Amino acid sequence: MTSRRGALIVLEGVDKAGKTTQCKKLVQTLLESGRPAEMMRFPERSTKIGQLISSYLENKSNLEDHTVHLLFSANRWELVPLMKEKLEQGITLVVDRYAFSGVAFTSAKPGFTLDWCMKPDVGLPKPDLVMFLKVNPAEAARRGHFGTERYENCAFQNIVLQRFEELMMDSAVNWQVIDASRNIEDVHEEIKNYSQKVASKAVTEPIGHLWT
Ligand code: TYD
Repeated sequence: MTSRRGALIVLEGVDKAGKTTQCKKLVQTLLESGRPAEMMRFPERSTKIGQLISSYLENKSNLEDHTVHLLFSANRWELVPLMKEKLEQGITLVVDRYAFSGVAFTSAKPGFTLDWCMKPDVGLPKPDLVMFLKVNPAEAARRGHFGTERYENCAFQNIVLQRFEELMMDSAVNWQVIDASRNIEDVHEEIKNYSQKVASKAVTEPIGHLWT
């Protein structure tokens, strides 16, 4: 590919980290700096697969644990053609959760290894940058109660955090840990700086394959 591609930037973190707010602000800032940018999120609940996932998360239906893991992965794969198209058009994608959430959440359940959980997502477009928004427990408590969806409880989120920490040991992925306990503007400033650097670099390199 010779034309300039967009960067694939992912925000991860446990609940209450402010991922969605920061994704929106980042897209806004990138646009203002003249860089085409769009936000995406996983799960993408609007597709048929996404609707199955959404109903499961809202506790309106039950799905077997392996099955739901594969549906989350399938939900990413079904969006890959669109993601590639946008990246090739030079659009930087800012993604709210990706395969790392997939692995961290399922492997927090009993009987699931990190390795098994990673397999279905091997080969997905590899993010140029993954920022992990980290909130200390005191600040998380200040931010209020969890919602009513599945997984939204403290004990489970603590195991999820441990799994994320294991995933962050993989130096083949460009992880940056962001202290998201600070105010929105300070967090945004740091996210913006990392993103602008990586977006300038990404345009000259082909998109990689995750976990290969
Ligand atoms: P999300 O829609 O981002 O909700 P919220 O904004 O409340 O965090 O994510 C929904 C839930 O799905 C969240 O608890 C994380 C979980 N999840 C998985 O279990 N596997 C996945 O692959 C992804 C992307 C999310």
